[in-house]
Amino acid sequence: MSFSGVSPVRSCLLMLFIHMSAPVEAKTVPGAPARTRRARLQPPGGAESIPLDLTPVKAKADDFLAQLENLAQSLYTCSSHKLDEDMRLQFLKNDSVTCNDGSPAGYYIRESKSSKRWLLLLEGGWYCFSKHSCDYRMKTTRALMSSSPWPQTRKGTGILSPKPEENPYWWNANMVFLPYCSSDLWSGTKPKTEDSGYAFMGSLIIKEVVNELLSKGLDKAKVLLLAGISAGGVGVLVNVDRVEEQLRSQGHQGVQVRGLSDSGWILQTEQYKQGDCTHVLSCGPNDMVKIGFRYWGAAVPEVCRQSYIGAEWNCFFGPIIYPTIKSPTFVVRWLFDQAQMTISNVDMTGGVITEGQWNYMHSIGQETKTTVQHALAVFAPACLAHELITRTYWMSVQVGGTSLPKALHCWERSLQDKNGSGGNHGNYNQTNNRTRPVRSCPLHLVDHCLWLNCNPTCPDIYDQPTGREMNAIQFLKQMGLKELKISKRQG
Ligand SMILES: *[C@@H]1O[C@H](CO)[C@@H](O)[C@H](O)[C@H]1NC(C)=O
Ligand SMILES: *[C@@H]1O[C@H](CO)[C@@H](O)[C@H](O)[C@H]1NC(C)=O
Ligand SMILES: *[C@@H]1O[C@H](CO)[C@@H](O)[C@H](O)[C@H]1NC(C)=O
Ligand SMILES: *[C@@H]1O[C@H](CO)[C@@H](O)[C@H](O)[C@H]1NC(C)=O
Repeated sequence: MSFSGVSPVRSCLLMLFIHMSAPVEAKTVPGAPARTRRARLQPPGGAESIPLDLTPVKAKADDFLAQLENLAQSLYTCSSHKLDEDMRLQFLKNDSVTCNDGSPAGYYIRESKSSKRWLLLLEGGWYCFSKHSCDYRMKTTRALMSSSPWPQTRKGTGILSPKPEENPYWWNANMVFLPYCSSDLWSGTKPKTEDSGYAFMGSLIIKEVVNELLSKGLDKAKVLLLAGISAGGVGVLVNVDRVEEQLRSQGHQGVQVRGLSDSGWILQTEQYKQGDCTHVLSCGPNDMVKIGFRYWGAAVPEVCRQSYIGAEWNCFFGPIIYPTIKSPTFVVRWLFDQAQMTISNVDMTGGVITEGQWNYMHSIGQETKTTVQHALAVFAPACLAHELITRTYWMSVQVGGTSLPKALHCWERSLQDKNGSGGNHGNYNQTNNRTRPVRSCPLHLVDHCLWLNCNPTCPDIYDQPTGREMNAIQFLKQMGLKELKISKRQG
C-alpha cells in the first residue's frame, strides 16, 4: 500500500543506507552529523527508522566484518521482521502504586532507541463498582485485578505491532502496553484499605508509568500518544491533559502529548431496557459512573470538574469531557458500539432481534454520529463492533476510502503543519472548527450511511451464542430480520 508514499521495503533500504554511513561519519565527526543526515533521510510522515545500533564500530580489522554482520541483521530484520517483537513486563518501582489486590502494577515495553515517539496504550476490560461485583470479577478474570498471573512478555498487534505491514502508522515507535488491573476506567486514586479490600489506582498507575519512563528516554520524546481501548479509551479522555500537565510541570514541555481514544466514547442515553446495577453488564451508563465515581475515588480533569460540581461523574462521557480537553485527541468510535448496546440491555443473544431493538440501535447510531460530529479528528464507521486499534485487521476498515492508520497520519500532519510545538500545542477549540480538511488527507471520517454495517468494510459480527463470525446479511438473517424490509432503512 502506498501509505505515506514510502513502502516498508523502501524505508528499510533508506535505513540501511543510514546504517552503513553512520559509523563512518561517527569516526570523522563524532556526534551531530549522523543525526542531521538521518533527519533529512527520514521518510515523510509516519515511517521511521527501525532500531539500529549506531554506536561507532571500533577502528580495528574486524570493522568490516562487524558492519557486514549488522547489515545482514538489518536485512533479515527488513525482510522478515523477526526482531525482538515481544514487549517485556516491568513492574513499577514504586510499589505503593498497585492493582486492585495490592500486587504491584506495571507495564510491558518494547523500546525503539531510534524513535522519539512513544505510544502508551491503556488496556480495556469493563470495570467493577461494588464489593459484590469486584469479588465476582476477581473469581472470573483475575488478571484484570492482579498482576500475579501476568506473563513475562506480550506481543503487540495493530497499532502496537512492530511490523510495517500491520502497522504502517507507528511501527517503529517505543511501545508501552499498560495492563488494566484497577477496574476503575483508569480514574481511581484510592489505595487499598482494610475495609474496602481493594485498591483503585488507575490514574496513579498512568502517572507512575510516565514517571518511570522518563529515565528510559521519554524525557527526550517528541510525541507521547496516550491511546486506549474500551475502558482504556475512557481512561485516555480522563487522563490525557493530566499527563500533559505532569510533563510540563517537570520541565518536559518539549514532549507533545496527544490522545487516541478507541471505543471509550460512552453515550448517556436511556437504556433500551432498564437494568439493575447488581450486574455490571446490565447497569446503565449513568448509574454505572455515579456509583463508580465514589467507589473508585475517581479523579476527573479540573476543567470538567469545575463545570460539574456535585455531578462530576458526567466527566466520564465523551460528549461532555471532549470539548474541555486541551491536548489534541483523536476519537475512534463505531457508530453501533457493542458495549454501548450491552449496557443498554439490547439483548442480542436470544437469536432474534425485535423491531424495537432495531430502532433503538439506530437511534444510538444517530446519536453517536451527532455527538462525534464536532470532534476535529474522528473515525466513526457504521458498524456493530467494539474496539479497533489493536485488531490485526485495523487497516482494512475504511470510511470513504480512508483507513484509520491513514487518518492518524493525516492528523499528525495537520498538527505538524500548525507548528504547535512548544508549551501549548494544538489547543484549538475542538467544538468550533470541526473540519479543516487537508486536501486528500482527511481526518474527520464519519460514515454517511446509517444502518447496521452499511459500510462494506465492516468487520464480521461476532455471534456470541455460536461463537461464529458472520457478515451483516447472515447476521440479520439469523436475527430474523428478513421480514423487516431492511432496504427501507438504508437512508
Ligand atoms: C509512589 O506513588 C505514590 C502515589 O502516586 C506517591 O504518593 C509517592 O510519592 C510515590 N513514591 C515515590 C518514591 O515516588
Ligand atoms: C468552544 O466554542 C463554543 C462555541 O463558541 C463554546 O460554546 C465553547 O464553550 C467553547 N469550548 C471551549 C472549551 O472553549
Ligand atoms: C515553528 O516553531 C518553532 C519554535 O517552536 C519556531 O522556531 C519556528 O520558526 C516555527 N516555524 C514556523 C514555520 O512557524
Ligand atoms: C475556524 O478556523 C478558521 C481558519 O483556521 C478561522 O479563521 C476561524 O476563526 C475559526 N473559527 C473559530 C470560531 O474559531
